[in-house]
Amino acid sequence: MKSRVWMAALVAMTVIAPAFADSLDGKQIFLHGDGAGAMPCAACHGVDAGGNTSIGAPKLAGLAVGVIKSALAQFANGEGGNASMQYIAQALSPAETDAVAGYLSSLK
Ligand code: HEC
Repeated sequence: MKSRVWMAALVAMTVIAPAFADSLDGKQIFLHGDGAGAMPCAACHGVDAGGNTSIGAPKLAGLAVGVIKSALAQFANGEGGNASMQYIAQALSPAETDAVAGYLSSLK
């Protein structure tokens, strides 16, 4: 009887866990960083992701998910960007990259 309860819990966890991974909070990462090396994007790109021309950080709000992801993938490979963006792009996990790209593309 007891093992059935455990089985049910295990099944529930394997079904629910990936859903949590997908719902990483992109806004949280944007404003506060990922706690694993990626600095808060807002520090350079602006709290509203409107960009900061004085340091050459482009506007990110409203960019397409694919555009953001391919820019980050290039930076992670050391192609383009600057040292900070390369470091940050490498620090972001794939799930974090998806989350932050989704958040930014949802902004105006
Ligand atoms: C230390 C300042 C700084 C931080 C922090 C920072 N960025 Fe950047 N980012 C820049 C600068 C400067 C550029 C322009 C690089 C270039 O094109 O040479 C840039 C470029 C980009 C681009 C390319 C946009 C385009 O249109 O080409 C993306 C996407 C991006 N950053 C995403 C992020 C995300 C997501 C974060 C947070 C996880 C972040 N950045 C944190 C400074 C920063």
